[in-house]
Amino acid sequence: MDFEYRQQGSSILISWPDGQTNNYPFIWLRDNCQCPACFHPSTHERLLFTADIDPDITALSVTGGADEITLHWDEAGGHESHFTGEWLYHNSTAAPKGGTVRESAVLWTAESLHEIPTFDYMEVAGDEAGMLRWCAALRAFGIARIRDVPRADGTVVAFAEQVGYVHDTIYDRLHNVYSDPNAYNLASTSEELKPHTDMPNYFSPPGVQLLHFIDNEAEGGETTLVDGYACALQLKEEDPAAYEILASTDVGFRLASSKGDIIGQSPLIELNNRGFISTIRYSNQLMLPLLIPGEEVKGFYDAYRTFSRLLNSADNLVKFKTRSGDMIATHNHRVLHGRAEFKPASGARHLQLAYLDFDLVMSRLRQQQVAEIGADWSVERFY
Ligand code: OGA
Ligand code: ZN
Ligand code: ZN
Repeated sequence: MDFEYRQQGSSILISWPDGQTNNYPFIWLRDNCQCPACFHPSTHERLLFTADIDPDITALSVTGGADEITLHWDEAGGHESHFTGEWLYHNSTAAPKGGTVRESAVLWTAESLHEIPTFDYMEVAGDEAGMLRWCAALRAFGIARIRDVPRADGTVVAFAEQVGYVHDTIYDRLHNVYSDPNAYNLASTSEELKPHTDMPNYFSPPGVQLLHFIDNEAEGGETTLVDGYACALQLKEEDPAAYEILASTDVGFRLASSKGDIIGQSPLIELNNRGFISTIRYSNQLMLPLLIPGEEVKGFYDAYRTFSRLLNSADNLVKFKTRSGDMIATHNHRVLHGRAEFKPASGARHLQLAYLDFDLVMSRLRQQQVAEIGADWSVERFY
């Protein structure tokens, strides 16, 4: 990729054909020298110890052609770094684009989501291209449904292992959901479950929930789904102060089973340091008493009420009867799921559940991108 460059102080300024100019400070260029002495040629991991770079490092000379640049460093023994335009462009020092959620997320409401992205089991489980389409739907919408999944015990775990590997929790790896008189959590009763994310009691909740409806014949028990990112942004728009409270107040959650007793706390709307929403944690049934100064309590409840109204509003929530043999996947850091109350005596209702890391879904898509482009360094970092 052609570019023009000039030195300005301790930086190289590069102007790209698209009009954009980026600033590449010498210390950044020295740190990212791609030579085999600085980056291990087979692992592509850094050998150079970044903290050893002279903070005032300068180049003795900068030479270049139309699409590459070579810097000779002023350091003991000398050192030369070579960069192509393409590499510099893809690893530009431009500030990441602004925004409120990851770029690849397509936000939805009950109206804008015309239908749930739906796949046939054989299309996804039997074919790599189908698996990638499923991953892409999950990345974009945070939900994907698979139809005609074999209604056999353990299929959900086998599927998770086809995507990658299971994310274990204090549930059994293959977790059964049915109405159980000795239930240790509300999901294993026949009560309504308002929209929630699973396992908010972990500091790192599993990123994907896979829910396999082996039998869903009982009366009631309709599935509900809602886009937590979209609702959080509606809250930000409608009541910025409430958004700020939910993004900054730690809330504790607890869930215990025979395998463990896990407590974690985090804001309900977790932001990363660019202000992007990274993780929604919301589970009315698992929330612990708030440990915040008394004078802040009312403000929190007001904000919680407003957010909860958005999450439960018919404008945002989709509600439908899931068929026996369906498998619903949700991005559990984003989309909340729930179910209506059901009548256990009216028919069989048996679900099996397993979790995955969302990183695995992204990894599948990234591997595909690298295979298509053939250049390891050009993968998108933020999406
Ligand atoms: C759960 C859950 C939904 C359902 O087990 O976490 O939300 O339809 N179940 O039973
Ligand atoms: Zn080097
Ligand atoms: Zn759940």
